[in-house]
Amino acid sequence: MEPDRDAGRTVRRCVCPGSYDPITLGHLDVIKRAAALYDEVVVAVLYNQAKQGMFTPAERMELIQAECADLPNVRAIEFQGRLLVDVCQELEITAIVKGLRGETDYSYELPMAVMNRYLTEVETLFLPGDPSYTQVSSSLIKEVARFGGDVSGLVGPRVWQALTAKLA
Ligand code: PNS
Repeated sequence: MEPDRDAGRTVRRCVCPGSYDPITLGHLDVIKRAAALYDEVVVAVLYNQAKQGMFTPAERMELIQAECADLPNVRAIEFQGRLLVDVCQELEITAIVKGLRGETDYSYELPMAVMNRYLTEVETLFLPGDPSYTQVSSSLIKEVARFGGDVSGLVGPRVWQALTAKLA
């Protein structure tokens, strides 16, 4: 397939993959920064059937779309049961962009980045996480919210509304 062209120029496209169960302000920060670097950002939502998530794939997609409504070059897709690099090749995506909150993220992400490059020529770019969000993860947000903690400042308003509705 011929690469997309925009006025004769190849469209530079990256992917921000994750479970997004649900999207947090930490995720959004990385997506916004990727959107400033690339022509198009594909937010790829992995739905792992083996992992019991809080939000369905459709709910995760809806929340991402609400959070990214003011980012015209960002779109969301969902995938499961296939390699991320296969999704990248199908959509002509040349880079995976991930945020790193610290050493634990680095240790988790590095083998995947190396494996993805071994499998294809898709590169992984790491963005240093914004210090305001180093404590933010979807799992911690859900755990704290489940026990009544106020983490409304760490997710978008639509996500907070959806979280409180799920837990009501
Ligand atoms: O938000 P997460 O759960 O940390 O994201 C992990 C994700 C989705 C990036 C990773 O599990 C992934 O890419 N899964 C797709 C299947 C795949 O390609 N696995 C091999 C990775 S080398």
